Amino acid sequence: MRTEQDHLLSEYLEKLVSGLQPFEKQTREAALSFGLNGISLSRGEAHVLRWLIQSKSLKKAVEIGTLTGLSGLYILDALQEGGTLWTLEKNEEHANVAESILKKFATETKKNVEVIRGDARLTLQKLNTMGPYDFIFIDGNKAAYCDYLIWAEQNLSPGGLLIADNVFLSGSVYSSIKSNFSEKQISVMQKFNERLMDSSIWRGALIPTREGLFVAEKMPI
Ligand SMILES: C[S@@+](CC[C@H](N)C(=O)[O-])C[C@H]1O[C@@H](n2cnc3c(N)ncnc32)[C@H](O)[C@@H]1O
Repeated sequence: MRTEQDHLLSEYLEKLVSGLQPFEKQTREAALSFGLNGISLSRGEAHVLRWLIQSKSLKKAVEIGTLTGLSGLYILDALQEGGTLWTLEKNEEHANVAESILKKFATETKKNVEVIRGDARLTLQKLNTMGPYDFIFIDGNKAAYCDYLIWAEQNLSPGGLLIADNVFLSGSVYSSIKSNFSEKQISVMQKFNERLMDSSIWRGALIPTREGLFVAEKMPI
């Protein structure tokens, strides 16, 4: 959930940086219409994600958890010309809204996007043959983060970039603070964070945003 301060920072960043606004406005308004406006990346987090992708000149991205396309817009914006985003979404209504916004933006920016409907644990398997990928963003079902990570280890290029959102689960991974997350979700997320700290597989850092953003590079084999 975003606070008043997050909101003010977001407005400040909007004034500083232009480009995506009409599309971003549409995705945020659509999320609001579903009553889910607080669960997309904040504008500050989205800027970090975009800069990291741009800095590595990436072309093939997979996103798990599209919602109405906010993070997808920033990923598309950051990819090299001709690049492709495959974005996975279980909820049909979210997927339909995101598809129409992301397709328009992809055409304008000479990129490609595929919105893949269904449970990501299953639909990821369909992407195996088109890999390896050079960027993976994890923001789907919190209880499935370890499954997504195993898939990423098998399908990300050496040196490829992985970003995961919500790795603090509103503080419940590191404290007994009351939250809406189940014991299973908390335990999966703790294992997920520990695995990403395994330096034989990943080189990464946990960025202490409100929700926690894990950023990691897959080590060369
Ligand atoms: C936090 S939102 C994603 C926010 C989006 N990445 C953004 O920043 O704009 C999580 C999304 O994951 C979707 N989701 C949840 N479980 C899923 C699953 N098993 N497979 C695919 N998508 C799932 C939800 O429907 C929701 O749209």
